[in-house]
Amino acid sequence: MRAVPGAGSAPLIAPSILAADFARLADETAAVHGADWLHVDVMDNHFVPNLTLGLPVVESLLKVTDIPMDCHLMIDDPGRWAPPYAEAGAYNVTFHAEATDNPVGVARDIRAAGAKAGLAIKPGTPVEPYLEILRNFDTALIMSVEPGFGGQKFIREVLPKVGTLRRLVDSGELTVIVEIDGGINDDTIEEAAEAGVDCFVAGSAVYSAEDPAAAVVALRRRAADASTHLTL
Ligand code: DX5
Ligand code: ZN
Repeated sequence: MRAVPGAGSAPLIAPSILAADFARLADETAAVHGADWLHVDVMDNHFVPNLTLGLPVVESLLKVTDIPMDCHLMIDDPGRWAPPYAEAGAYNVTFHAEATDNPVGVARDIRAAGAKAGLAIKPGTPVEPYLEILRNFDTALIMSVEPGFGGQKFIREVLPKVGTLRRLVDSGELTVIVEIDGGINDDTIEEAAEAGVDCFVAGSAVYSAEDPAAAVVALRRRAADASTHLTL
């Protein structure tokens, strides 16, 4: 896996286990072998109106997969709760800009605990106020649905935020992986790729497929074909 995204990198596909069968998480993780990241949505029923899973489940999942884990924390108080996911062995730990007054401090703690640090913003949150502090992050996650639920419709109005980040990464001012989350499927991945996304989260599109691993390969191919900054 590349350390820093750039022109000619391969698209990263991150299946979201939010769309998997929670009674069979180990099998569902194995079903997406070949995925670049495994996206795990942590929701606390405070920051978002839904409750999913937390650290004990992440710790168990880490034992059964070699796929780098991408924890997306949709929770209040990430300063308190995010670093343990890094200590547990998550590859990337992303929290929401809207959930803390001290995003740089949280990123520092995540990195000190051994993970990459990601900053997520909701569809209605502008990216400009965060461009400067993104120097302290490894990942920038642009939400293309309201956080809380899988299976929603892609909000294409967020794509200019992707374009802003892409230009800053390509000019060397930022080194973040540009990630998009929500409503990504065969019909929407191309416009996201054209806009400049590096890493594509896909929940329902992957897990509703008869062969989830093949769906990952197909999505990766579509993203690469649609984009000038991505190749296979
Ligand atoms: C939504 C989650 C997403 C979700 C995406 O709050 O952050 O990761 O699983 O699901 P799809 O791909 O079905 O929109
Ligand atoms: Zn997510």
